[in-house]
Amino acid sequence: AQRTLVLLKPDAVQRGLRGEIIRRLETKGYEIVALAQRTATAEELSAHYAEHEGKPFYPGLVEYMGAGPLVAIVAEGDSVIAGFRSLAGATNPTEAAPGTIRGDLAREWDLPVIQNLVHGSDSEESAAREIGIWFPELG
Ligand code: GTP
Ligand code: MG
Repeated sequence: AQRTLVLLKPDAVQRGLRGEIIRRLETKGYEIVALAQRTATAEELSAHYAEHEGKPFYPGLVEYMGAGPLVAIVAEGDSVIAGFRSLAGATNPTEAAPGTIRGDLAREWDLPVIQNLVHGSDSEESAAREIGIWFPELG
């Protein structure tokens, strides 16, 4: 089976949406292999978002992701990488389809960065890299 790295971002924790989001993941049929809540370190965030370094939204992104505790999850199941991205919906919550986590539970705010509740790895390569960042013991 395939594995993916899911983050319940600080806005999800702050809004009390952990249970709602985990319910969607579990009722879809994916297995939770590991789960941990903590406030991300600067090192974890710069490794996780290395692809976005230098982009105009990067400083706001790192501030948002470090503003409070997040929940890191390793989820497992056939095609879970694409499957969780489908559950999450489009990056911009205004464009995310109803029925998705972002479409149902997030909206745009006048902020320097899009707050969209969840992260999911976008490829097998990203998943392996990101699981190594958040759960080095699983590497
Ligand atoms: P993640 O699952 O968090 O990686 O989201 P994603 O894969 O849907 O989006 P991407 O990796 O492209 O961007 C990472 C995060 O940066 C997004 O979740 C947003 O919070 C933020 N972001 C991405 N693109 C933009 C943008 O064009 N403008 C702003 N303001 N923020 C952005
Ligand atoms: Mg991404």
